[in-house]
Amino acid sequence: SQTRSYDFVVSQVQGAPDGVDKPMLVVNGMYPGPTIEANQGDRIVVKVTNMLENRTTIHWHGLFQNGTNYYDGTAAITECGIPPGQSLVYNFTLGEFSGSSWWHAHSTQYTDGITGALVVHPSEPAPASIPAWEEELVVQVADLYHTFSWLLLERYISPWGIDGTPGDEPVPDAGTLNGLGQWAGNGDYFNFTLEPNKAYRLRIANTGSFASIRFSVDYHTLSVIEVDGTLVEPYDVTGITVAVAQRYSVLLRTDNSTGGPFWMRATLQKRMFRYEQPGQNLDIRGVIRYGPAANTTALPIESSDPGVPSQPTLRDADDSSLVPAVFGVAPERTRRYSLRVSMQMHSSLVSLGFMNTTSWEPLQGTTTLLRAREAFQEGRVYGGSDGGSLQSGEQFLLTEDSVQVVDLLIDNLDDGDHPFHLHGHRPWNVGSGPGRYIGQALNATNPLRRDTILLPAYHWVALRFVTDNPGLWAFHCHLAWHMGAGMLMQVNSLPTRAAQLDIPQAIVDQCAVNV
Ligand code: C2O
Repeated sequence: SQTRSYDFVVSQVQGAPDGVDKPMLVVNGMYPGPTIEANQGDRIVVKVTNMLENRTTIHWHGLFQNGTNYYDGTAAITECGIPPGQSLVYNFTLGEFSGSSWWHAHSTQYTDGITGALVVHPSEPAPASIPAWEEELVVQVADLYHTFSWLLLERYISPWGIDGTPGDEPVPDAGTLNGLGQWAGNGDYFNFTLEPNKAYRLRIANTGSFASIRFSVDYHTLSVIEVDGTLVEPYDVTGITVAVAQRYSVLLRTDNSTGGPFWMRATLQKRMFRYEQPGQNLDIRGVIRYGPAANTTALPIESSDPGVPSQPTLRDADDSSLVPAVFGVAPERTRRYSLRVSMQMHSSLVSLGFMNTTSWEPLQGTTTLLRAREAFQEGRVYGGSDGGSLQSGEQFLLTEDSVQVVDLLIDNLDDGDHPFHLHGHRPWNVGSGPGRYIGQALNATNPLRRDTILLPAYHWVALRFVTDNPGLWAFHCHLAWHMGAGMLMQVNSLPTRAAQLDIPQAIVDQCAVNV
Protein backbone atom coordinates (compact mmCIF):
# COMPACT_ATOMS: atom_id res chain seq x y z
CA SER A 1 0.00 0.00 0.00
CA GLN A 2 1.09 3.55 -0.50
CA THR A 3 0.21 7.09 0.52
CA ARG A 4 -1.45 9.35 -2.03
CA SER A 5 -1.45 13.06 -1.34
CA TYR A 6 -3.67 15.68 -2.90
CA ASP A 7 -4.04 19.42 -2.59
CA PHE A 8 -7.60 20.69 -2.93
CA VAL A 9 -8.24 24.43 -3.12
CA VAL A 10 -11.94 25.29 -2.99
CA SER A 11 -12.89 28.57 -4.60
CA GLN A 12 -15.66 30.45 -6.36
CA VAL A 13 -15.22 31.05 -10.09
CA GLN A 14 -17.34 32.00 -13.08
CA GLY A 15 -18.05 29.00 -15.28
CA ALA A 16 -20.30 28.02 -18.15
CA PRO A 17 -20.62 24.22 -18.21
CA ASP A 18 -23.53 24.38 -20.67
CA GLY A 19 -22.68 27.71 -22.31
CA VAL A 20 -24.57 29.77 -19.73
CA ASP A 21 -22.41 31.88 -17.44
CA LYS A 22 -22.89 31.12 -13.76
CA PRO A 23 -21.03 31.32 -10.46
CA MET A 24 -19.54 27.97 -9.47
CA LEU A 25 -17.83 26.53 -6.43
CA VAL A 26 -15.00 24.28 -7.54
CA VAL A 27 -11.89 22.42 -6.46
CA ASN A 28 -8.63 23.48 -8.14
CA GLY A 29 -10.61 25.53 -10.65
CA MET A 30 -12.05 22.40 -12.24
CA TYR A 31 -15.52 20.94 -12.69
CA PRO A 32 -15.65 18.09 -11.95
CA GLY A 33 -12.72 18.26 -9.55
CA PRO A 34 -9.70 15.94 -9.51
CA THR A 35 -10.25 12.17 -9.52
CA ILE A 36 -8.86 10.25 -6.57
CA GLU A 37 -7.74 6.82 -7.73
CA ALA A 38 -6.09 4.40 -5.31
CA ASN A 39 -5.88 0.82 -4.10
CA GLN A 40 -7.62 -0.69 -1.13
CA GLY A 41 -5.30 -0.30 1.85
CA ASP A 42 -3.75 2.93 0.60
CA ARG A 43 -3.57 6.01 2.77
CA ILE A 44 -5.23 9.12 1.36
CA VAL A 45 -4.05 12.54 2.52
CA VAL A 46 -5.98 15.51 1.17
CA LYS A 47 -5.17 19.04 2.23
CA VAL A 48 -8.33 21.07 1.63
CA THR A 49 -7.92 24.85 1.61
CA ASN A 50 -11.11 26.87 1.74
CA MET A 51 -11.06 30.08 -0.31
CA LEU A 52 -14.86 30.54 -0.05
CA GLU A 53 -16.65 33.07 2.13
CA ASN A 54 -18.40 30.29 4.04
CA ARG A 55 -17.32 27.13 5.76
CA THR A 56 -16.98 23.97 3.74
CA THR A 57 -16.35 20.25 4.26
CA ILE A 58 -15.49 17.43 1.89
CA HIS A 59 -17.22 14.07 2.31
CA TRP A 60 -15.79 10.86 0.84
CA HIS A 61 -18.99 9.16 -0.21
CA GLY A 62 -19.16 5.44 0.42
CA LEU A 63 -15.92 5.17 2.42
CA PHE A 64 -16.17 3.52 5.83
CA GLN A 65 -13.71 5.77 7.71
CA ASN A 66 -13.34 3.04 10.30
CA GLY A 67 -11.57 4.66 13.26
CA THR A 68 -11.55 8.06 11.55
CA ASN A 69 -15.21 9.09 11.75
CA TYR A 70 -13.96 12.67 12.37
CA TYR A 71 -12.70 12.80 8.75
CA ASP A 72 -16.12 11.88 7.31
CA GLY A 73 -16.63 15.50 6.26
CA THR A 74 -20.20 15.97 7.51
CA ALA A 75 -20.84 19.49 8.76
CA ALA A 76 -22.23 19.74 12.30
CA ILE A 77 -21.87 15.97 12.76
CA THR A 78 -18.15 15.21 12.47
CA GLU A 79 -16.70 18.70 12.01
CA CYS A 80 -17.81 22.33 12.16
CA GLY A 81 -16.44 22.97 8.69
CA ILE A 82 -13.21 24.53 7.41
CA PRO A 83 -13.41 28.29 8.10
CA PRO A 84 -12.75 30.68 5.20
CA GLY A 85 -9.02 31.04 4.51
CA GLN A 86 -8.10 27.94 6.49
CA SER A 87 -7.14 24.37 5.65
CA LEU A 88 -7.82 20.89 6.99
CA VAL A 89 -5.82 17.78 6.17
CA TYR A 90 -8.09 14.75 5.80
CA ASN A 91 -5.98 11.64 6.42
CA PHE A 92 -7.48 8.16 6.26
CA THR A 93 -6.90 4.65 4.91
CA LEU A 94 -9.07 2.90 2.34
CA GLY A 95 -10.61 0.02 4.24
CA GLU A 96 -13.63 -2.10 3.43
CA PHE A 97 -14.95 -0.19 0.40
CA SER A 98 -13.68 -0.83 -3.09
CA GLY A 99 -15.32 0.20 -6.35
CA SER A 100 -16.68 3.39 -7.85
CA SER A 101 -17.54 6.40 -5.76
CA TRP A 102 -17.23 10.14 -5.52
CA TRP A 103 -16.39 12.95 -3.13
CA HIS A 104 -18.37 16.14 -2.58
CA ALA A 105 -19.06 19.07 -0.27
CA HIS A 106 -21.63 17.93 2.26
CA SER A 107 -24.18 20.67 1.65
CA THR A 108 -25.80 22.27 -1.37
CA GLN A 109 -22.33 23.70 -2.10
CA TYR A 110 -21.87 20.50 -4.08
CA THR A 111 -24.75 21.53 -6.36
CA ASP A 112 -22.53 24.43 -7.46
CA GLY A 113 -19.67 22.13 -8.47
CA ILE A 114 -17.67 20.75 -5.52
CA THR A 115 -17.66 17.12 -6.73
CA GLY A 116 -15.18 14.61 -8.11
CA ALA A 117 -14.70 10.91 -8.72
CA LEU A 118 -13.23 8.41 -6.28
CA VAL A 119 -12.02 5.05 -7.61
CA VAL A 120 -10.79 2.33 -5.26
CA HIS A 121 -9.24 -0.75 -6.85
CA PRO A 122 -9.92 -3.88 -4.80
CA SER A 123 -7.17 -6.01 -3.30
CA GLU A 124 -9.10 -9.17 -4.22
CA PRO A 125 -9.34 -10.18 -7.89
CA ALA A 126 -12.84 -10.02 -9.42
CA PRO A 127 -14.78 -13.32 -9.47
CA ALA A 128 -14.50 -15.39 -12.65
CA SER A 129 -18.01 -14.48 -13.82
CA ILE A 130 -16.96 -10.85 -14.37
CA PRO A 131 -15.46 -10.49 -17.88
CA ALA A 132 -12.11 -8.77 -18.14
CA TRP A 133 -11.84 -5.18 -19.33
CA GLU A 134 -8.84 -3.40 -20.76
CA GLU A 135 -9.37 0.22 -19.83
CA GLU A 136 -11.46 2.30 -17.46
CA LEU A 137 -13.33 5.54 -17.96
CA VAL A 138 -15.08 7.72 -15.41
CA VAL A 139 -18.46 9.16 -16.38
CA GLN A 140 -19.94 11.75 -14.01
CA VAL A 141 -23.46 12.83 -14.86
CA ALA A 142 -25.32 15.56 -12.99
CA ASP A 143 -28.20 17.96 -13.26
CA LEU A 144 -27.27 21.64 -13.54
CA TYR A 145 -28.83 24.79 -12.14
CA HIS A 146 -28.09 28.23 -13.54
CA THR A 147 -28.95 29.82 -10.18
CA PHE A 148 -26.73 29.60 -7.11
CA SER A 149 -27.80 26.75 -4.84
CA TRP A 150 -28.18 28.75 -1.62
CA LEU A 151 -30.69 31.05 -3.35
CA LEU A 152 -32.64 28.04 -4.57
CA LEU A 153 -32.58 26.37 -1.15
CA GLU A 154 -33.71 29.52 0.60
CA ARG A 155 -36.64 29.91 -1.77
CA TYR A 156 -37.48 26.20 -1.72
CA ILE A 157 -38.03 26.05 2.02
CA SER A 158 -39.76 29.47 2.11
CA PRO A 159 -43.55 29.91 2.12
CA TRP A 160 -43.33 31.19 -1.47
CA GLY A 161 -41.50 28.23 -2.90
CA ILE A 162 -39.60 28.44 -6.14
CA ASP A 163 -42.56 28.86 -8.45
CA GLY A 164 -45.20 30.21 -6.09
CA THR A 165 -46.14 26.77 -4.79
CA PRO A 166 -44.48 25.98 -1.46
CA GLY A 167 -42.82 22.58 -1.40
CA ASP A 168 -41.97 22.36 -5.11
CA GLU A 169 -38.32 21.45 -5.40
CA PRO A 170 -36.06 23.51 -7.68
CA VAL A 171 -36.13 22.03 -11.19
CA PRO A 172 -32.77 21.96 -13.01
CA ASP A 173 -32.09 23.91 -16.19
CA ALA A 174 -29.91 21.28 -17.82
CA GLY A 175 -27.21 18.75 -16.97
CA THR A 176 -23.60 17.82 -17.53
CA LEU A 177 -21.61 14.78 -18.58
CA ASN A 178 -18.07 15.04 -17.20
CA GLY A 179 -18.62 18.74 -16.71
CA LEU A 180 -20.03 19.65 -20.12
CA GLY A 181 -23.66 20.13 -21.10
CA GLN A 182 -25.83 21.90 -23.62
CA TRP A 183 -28.49 24.55 -23.27
CA ALA A 184 -30.40 26.42 -26.00
CA GLY A 185 -27.99 25.21 -28.68
CA ASN A 186 -24.91 26.32 -26.73
CA GLY A 187 -22.33 24.37 -24.83
CA ASP A 188 -19.84 21.67 -25.73
CA TYR A 189 -19.82 17.90 -25.82
CA PHE A 190 -17.51 15.80 -23.69
CA ASN A 191 -15.56 13.41 -25.96
CA PHE A 192 -13.95 10.03 -25.35
CA THR A 193 -11.61 8.87 -28.11
CA LEU A 194 -11.34 5.07 -27.84
CA GLU A 195 -9.80 2.20 -29.75
CA PRO A 196 -11.78 -0.36 -31.73
CA ASN A 197 -12.21 -3.93 -30.47
CA LYS A 198 -11.56 -3.15 -26.88
CA ALA A 199 -13.46 -3.68 -23.62
CA TYR A 200 -13.96 -0.59 -21.46
CA ARG A 201 -15.28 -0.31 -17.93
CA LEU A 202 -17.34 2.86 -17.56
CA ARG A 203 -17.74 3.98 -13.96
CA ILE A 204 -20.94 6.02 -13.96
CA ALA A 205 -21.88 8.22 -11.03
CA ASN A 206 -24.81 10.60 -10.63
CA THR A 207 -23.13 13.52 -8.88
CA GLY A 208 -26.20 15.73 -9.24
CA SER A 209 -28.67 17.16 -6.77
CA PHE A 210 -32.18 16.18 -7.81
CA ALA A 211 -32.83 14.34 -11.07
CA SER A 212 -32.30 10.65 -11.72
CA ILE A 213 -30.40 10.29 -14.98
CA ARG A 214 -30.60 7.55 -17.62
CA PHE A 215 -27.25 6.79 -19.23
CA SER A 216 -26.94 5.02 -22.60
CA VAL A 217 -24.64 4.85 -25.61
CA ASP A 218 -26.26 4.71 -29.05
CA TYR A 219 -25.93 1.29 -30.76
CA HIS A 220 -24.03 -0.23 -27.82
CA THR A 221 -24.92 -2.83 -25.26
CA LEU A 222 -23.95 -1.98 -21.70
CA SER A 223 -23.21 -4.85 -19.36
CA VAL A 224 -23.78 -3.88 -15.72
CA ILE A 225 -21.11 -5.31 -13.37
CA GLU A 226 -21.05 -3.05 -10.32
CA VAL A 227 -23.55 -1.31 -8.06
CA ASP A 228 -22.09 1.08 -5.41
CA GLY A 229 -19.04 -1.13 -4.85
CA THR A 230 -20.87 -4.46 -5.12
CA LEU A 231 -19.86 -6.58 -8.13
CA VAL A 232 -22.90 -8.12 -9.81
CA GLU A 233 -23.36 -10.89 -12.37
CA PRO A 234 -23.03 -9.19 -15.78
CA TYR A 235 -26.44 -8.04 -16.97
CA ASP A 236 -26.89 -6.60 -20.46
CA VAL A 237 -28.99 -3.47 -20.82
CA THR A 238 -29.74 -0.69 -23.28
CA GLY A 239 -29.42 1.94 -20.57
CA ILE A 240 -29.23 2.37 -16.81
CA THR A 241 -31.05 4.92 -14.67
CA VAL A 242 -28.89 6.27 -11.88
CA ALA A 243 -30.42 8.09 -8.91
CA VAL A 244 -28.54 10.92 -7.22
CA ALA A 245 -25.33 9.64 -5.50
CA GLN A 246 -25.61 6.12 -6.95
CA ARG A 247 -22.90 4.49 -9.07
CA TYR A 248 -22.90 1.70 -11.63
CA SER A 249 -20.07 0.19 -13.64
CA VAL A 250 -20.89 -1.08 -17.11
CA LEU A 251 -18.71 -2.83 -19.66
CA LEU A 252 -18.81 -1.47 -23.19
CA ARG A 253 -17.12 -3.18 -26.12
CA THR A 254 -16.07 -1.16 -29.11
CA ASP A 255 -16.33 -3.05 -32.41
CA ASN A 256 -14.64 -2.16 -35.66
CA SER A 257 -17.64 -0.47 -37.19
CA THR A 258 -17.39 2.54 -39.42
CA GLY A 259 -20.64 3.86 -38.01
CA GLY A 260 -19.22 6.14 -35.30
CA PRO A 261 -18.95 8.58 -33.65
CA PHE A 262 -21.71 7.66 -31.20
CA TRP A 263 -23.76 9.68 -28.76
CA MET A 264 -23.50 9.05 -25.06
CA ARG A 265 -26.77 10.18 -23.54
CA ALA A 266 -27.46 11.45 -20.08
CA THR A 267 -31.22 11.93 -20.00
CA LEU A 268 -32.67 13.74 -16.99
CA GLN A 269 -35.78 11.98 -15.71
CA LYS A 270 -38.56 14.46 -15.05
CA ARG A 271 -40.63 12.22 -12.77
CA MET A 272 -39.97 14.50 -9.78
CA PHE A 273 -40.28 17.82 -11.63
CA ARG A 274 -43.35 19.72 -10.47
CA TYR A 275 -43.17 22.69 -12.79
CA GLU A 276 -41.80 23.64 -16.22
CA GLN A 277 -38.42 25.30 -16.19
CA PRO A 278 -38.26 27.63 -19.22
CA GLY A 279 -35.71 26.58 -21.83
CA GLN A 280 -34.92 23.41 -19.92
CA ASN A 281 -32.78 20.76 -21.65
CA LEU A 282 -33.19 17.20 -20.39
CA ASP A 283 -31.24 15.60 -23.24
CA ILE A 284 -27.55 15.94 -22.32
CA ARG A 285 -24.98 14.31 -24.54
CA GLY A 286 -21.35 13.37 -24.92
CA VAL A 287 -19.53 11.58 -27.72
CA ILE A 288 -17.66 8.29 -28.03
CA ARG A 289 -15.28 8.16 -31.01
CA TYR A 290 -13.41 5.22 -32.46
CA GLY A 291 -12.74 3.51 -35.77
CA PRO A 292 -12.11 4.97 -39.21
CA ALA A 293 -14.69 7.72 -38.80
CA ALA A 294 -13.59 8.69 -35.30
CA ASN A 295 -12.69 12.24 -36.19
CA THR A 296 -15.81 13.13 -38.16
CA THR A 297 -17.15 16.34 -36.74
CA ALA A 298 -20.68 15.81 -37.98
CA LEU A 299 -22.66 13.50 -35.72
CA PRO A 300 -25.82 11.77 -36.83
CA ILE A 301 -28.77 13.80 -35.62
CA GLU A 302 -30.84 11.28 -33.77
CA SER A 303 -33.30 12.84 -31.46
CA SER A 304 -34.00 9.68 -29.52
CA ASP A 305 -31.90 6.78 -28.35
CA PRO A 306 -31.88 4.17 -31.18
CA GLY A 307 -31.10 1.42 -28.66
CA VAL A 308 -29.16 -1.61 -29.90
CA PRO A 309 -30.76 -2.61 -33.23
CA SER A 310 -28.88 -5.93 -33.36
CA GLN A 311 -30.51 -6.92 -30.04
CA PRO A 312 -34.11 -5.75 -30.35
CA THR A 313 -35.23 -7.46 -27.13
CA LEU A 314 -32.62 -5.74 -24.96
CA ARG A 315 -34.12 -3.52 -22.24
CA ASP A 316 -33.07 -1.31 -19.37
CA ALA A 317 -32.66 -3.09 -16.05
CA ASP A 318 -33.60 -2.16 -12.54
CA ASP A 319 -31.95 -3.38 -9.35
CA SER A 320 -34.31 -6.36 -9.10
CA SER A 321 -32.46 -7.96 -12.04
CA LEU A 322 -29.02 -7.54 -10.49
CA VAL A 323 -27.45 -10.33 -8.41
CA PRO A 324 -24.21 -9.97 -6.39
CA ALA A 325 -21.41 -11.90 -8.07
CA VAL A 326 -19.96 -13.04 -4.76
CA PHE A 327 -22.68 -14.98 -2.96
CA GLY A 328 -23.41 -13.77 0.54
CA VAL A 329 -26.02 -14.10 3.26
CA ALA A 330 -26.86 -11.07 5.40
CA PRO A 331 -26.49 -11.75 9.14
CA GLU A 332 -29.58 -12.27 11.31
CA ARG A 333 -31.01 -9.10 12.67
CA THR A 334 -30.80 -8.38 16.35
CA ARG A 335 -32.57 -5.00 16.46
CA ARG A 336 -35.06 -3.14 14.37
CA TYR A 337 -36.03 0.45 14.04
CA SER A 338 -39.04 1.87 12.20
CA LEU A 339 -38.77 5.13 10.33
CA ARG A 340 -41.32 7.22 8.55
CA VAL A 341 -40.00 9.79 6.17
CA SER A 342 -41.74 12.62 4.36
CA MET A 343 -41.54 16.23 3.36
CA GLN A 344 -43.96 18.21 5.51
CA MET A 345 -45.34 21.71 5.34
CA HIS A 346 -44.80 23.46 8.63
CA SER A 347 -47.75 25.59 9.81
CA SER A 348 -45.84 28.66 8.60
CA LEU A 349 -45.71 27.05 5.14
CA VAL A 350 -42.04 26.25 5.47
CA SER A 351 -41.19 22.91 3.82
CA LEU A 352 -39.16 20.59 6.00
CA GLY A 353 -37.92 17.03 5.63
CA PHE A 354 -38.88 14.72 8.47
CA MET A 355 -37.42 11.44 9.74
CA ASN A 356 -40.06 10.26 12.23
CA THR A 357 -40.82 13.39 14.27
CA THR A 358 -37.57 15.27 13.77
CA SER A 359 -36.29 17.55 11.05
CA TRP A 360 -32.54 18.07 11.15
CA GLU A 361 -31.13 21.48 11.84
CA PRO A 362 -27.34 21.59 12.04
CA LEU A 363 -25.88 22.38 15.46
CA GLN A 364 -23.99 25.66 15.53
CA GLY A 365 -20.48 25.92 16.95
CA THR A 366 -20.20 22.23 17.78
CA THR A 367 -20.77 18.76 16.39
CA THR A 368 -22.59 15.68 17.55
CA LEU A 369 -19.26 13.86 17.72
CA LEU A 370 -17.89 16.52 20.11
CA ARG A 371 -21.09 16.41 22.15
CA ALA A 372 -20.72 12.66 22.45
CA ARG A 373 -17.16 13.08 23.70
CA GLU A 374 -18.21 15.73 26.25
CA ALA A 375 -20.99 13.53 27.56
CA PHE A 376 -18.59 10.61 27.90
CA GLN A 377 -16.06 12.73 29.81
CA GLU A 378 -18.85 13.74 32.20
CA GLY A 379 -19.84 10.12 32.67
CA ARG A 380 -23.08 10.38 30.72
CA VAL A 381 -24.26 8.40 27.72
CA TYR A 382 -24.95 10.84 24.94
CA GLY A 383 -28.57 10.58 23.93
CA GLY A 384 -29.24 8.15 26.74
CA SER A 385 -30.74 9.51 29.94
CA ASP A 386 -30.47 13.07 28.66
CA GLY A 387 -32.40 12.11 25.52
CA GLY A 388 -35.22 14.47 26.43
CA SER A 389 -32.98 17.50 26.17
CA LEU A 390 -31.54 16.78 22.74
CA GLN A 391 -31.84 19.52 20.17
CA SER A 392 -33.09 18.74 16.68
CA GLY A 393 -29.53 18.75 15.33
CA GLU A 394 -28.81 15.83 17.62
CA GLN A 395 -31.48 13.37 16.62
CA PHE A 396 -29.91 9.99 16.18
CA LEU A 397 -30.36 6.31 16.51
CA LEU A 398 -28.38 5.29 19.58
CA THR A 399 -27.08 1.74 19.26
CA GLU A 400 -25.46 -0.43 21.88
CA ASP A 401 -21.81 -0.94 22.81
CA SER A 402 -21.99 -4.45 21.46
CA VAL A 403 -22.18 -4.91 17.70
CA GLN A 404 -25.77 -5.23 16.55
CA VAL A 405 -27.43 -6.10 13.25
CA VAL A 406 -30.03 -3.40 12.73
CA ASP A 407 -32.93 -3.35 10.31
CA LEU A 408 -34.09 0.12 9.35
CA LEU A 409 -37.70 -0.39 8.24
CA ILE A 410 -38.55 2.73 6.32
CA ASP A 411 -41.94 3.91 5.08
CA ASN A 412 -41.89 6.72 2.56
CA LEU A 413 -45.16 8.53 3.29
CA ASP A 414 -44.49 11.06 0.61
CA ASP A 415 -45.26 11.58 -3.08
CA GLY A 416 -41.55 12.08 -3.86
CA ASP A 417 -38.70 9.60 -4.35
CA HIS A 418 -35.77 9.65 -1.94
CA PRO A 419 -32.31 8.18 -2.60
CA PHE A 420 -31.28 7.35 0.98
CA HIS A 421 -27.61 7.17 1.87
CA LEU A 422 -26.05 5.76 5.03
CA HIS A 423 -22.53 6.89 5.88
CA GLY A 424 -19.88 4.52 7.21
CA HIS A 425 -21.79 1.31 6.42
CA ARG A 426 -23.02 -0.48 3.32
CA PRO A 427 -26.47 -1.86 4.03
CA TRP A 428 -28.08 -4.91 2.51
CA ASN A 429 -31.37 -4.16 0.83
CA VAL A 430 -33.34 -7.00 2.42
CA GLY A 431 -36.76 -5.94 1.18
CA SER A 432 -38.80 -3.28 -0.55
CA GLY A 433 -42.17 -2.80 -2.13
CA PRO A 434 -45.18 -0.56 -2.59
CA GLY A 435 -47.19 0.66 0.38
CA ARG A 436 -46.06 0.41 3.97
CA TYR A 437 -44.01 -2.11 5.85
CA ILE A 438 -46.47 -4.30 7.74
CA GLY A 439 -44.28 -7.32 8.39
CA GLN A 440 -43.62 -8.56 4.86
CA ALA A 441 -41.02 -11.34 4.67
CA LEU A 442 -37.46 -10.11 4.23
CA ASN A 443 -34.78 -11.75 2.12
CA ALA A 444 -31.31 -12.21 3.55
CA THR A 445 -30.08 -14.54 0.79
CA ASN A 446 -27.64 -12.77 -1.50
CA PRO A 447 -29.38 -9.39 -1.32
CA LEU A 448 -27.94 -6.39 -3.13
CA ARG A 449 -25.64 -4.36 -0.92
CA ARG A 450 -25.26 -0.68 -1.70
CA ASP A 451 -24.84 2.61 0.15
CA THR A 452 -27.51 4.62 -1.71
CA ILE A 453 -30.97 3.12 -2.17
CA LEU A 454 -33.80 4.76 -4.07
CA LEU A 455 -36.99 4.71 -2.01
CA PRO A 456 -39.83 5.54 -4.41
CA ALA A 457 -42.93 7.50 -3.46
CA TYR A 458 -45.28 5.56 -1.16
CA HIS A 459 -42.93 2.57 -0.93
CA TRP A 460 -41.10 0.87 1.92
CA VAL A 461 -37.59 -0.48 2.12
CA ALA A 462 -35.73 -2.57 4.70
CA LEU A 463 -32.01 -1.86 5.11
CA ARG A 464 -29.84 -4.13 7.24
CA PHE A 465 -26.48 -3.04 8.57
CA VAL A 466 -23.94 -4.01 11.20
CA THR A 467 -23.08 -1.41 13.84
CA ASP A 468 -19.38 -2.21 13.83
CA ASN A 469 -18.01 1.20 12.92
CA PRO A 470 -17.69 3.65 15.83
CA GLY A 471 -18.92 7.16 15.16
CA LEU A 472 -21.80 9.43 14.30
CA TRP A 473 -22.94 8.71 10.79
CA ALA A 474 -25.40 10.64 8.68
CA PHE A 475 -28.36 8.85 7.17
CA HIS A 476 -30.19 11.09 4.75
CA CYS A 477 -32.02 11.66 1.51
CA HIS A 478 -29.27 12.60 -0.94
CA LEU A 479 -31.44 15.02 -2.93
CA ALA A 480 -29.65 18.25 -2.07
CA TRP A 481 -32.94 20.09 -1.48
CA HIS A 482 -34.41 17.48 0.84
CA MET A 483 -31.20 17.19 2.83
CA GLY A 484 -31.03 21.00 3.03
CA ALA A 485 -34.61 20.96 4.34
CA GLY A 486 -33.67 18.55 7.15
CA MET A 487 -34.32 15.04 5.83
CA LEU A 488 -31.37 13.69 7.77
CA MET A 489 -30.75 11.74 10.95
CA GLN A 490 -27.69 10.10 12.44
CA VAL A 491 -26.67 6.67 13.60
CA ASN A 492 -24.46 6.51 16.68
CA SER A 493 -22.57 3.24 16.18
CA LEU A 494 -20.73 1.73 19.18
CA PRO A 495 -21.35 4.88 21.26
CA THR A 496 -18.64 4.46 23.89
CA ARG A 497 -15.94 3.85 21.30
CA ALA A 498 -17.34 6.74 19.21
CA ALA A 499 -16.98 9.04 22.23
CA GLN A 500 -13.37 7.93 22.68
CA LEU A 501 -12.23 8.57 19.11
CA ASP A 502 -9.08 10.66 19.03
CA ILE A 503 -10.52 13.78 17.40
CA PRO A 504 -7.64 15.83 15.91
CA GLN A 505 -7.15 19.22 17.54
CA ALA A 506 -7.49 20.92 14.13
CA ILE A 507 -11.08 19.72 13.99
CA VAL A 508 -11.85 20.86 17.53
CA ASP A 509 -10.31 24.26 16.74
CA GLN A 510 -12.55 24.77 13.69
CA CYS A 511 -15.56 25.12 15.99
CA ALA A 512 -14.02 27.97 17.97
CA VAL A 513 -13.64 30.19 14.90
CA ASN A 514 -16.36 32.77 14.36
CA VAL A 515 -17.50 32.89 10.76
CU1 C2O B 1 -22.77 11.62 -0.69
CU2 C2O B 1 -24.06 12.31 3.12
O1 C2O B 1 -23.35 11.97 1.26
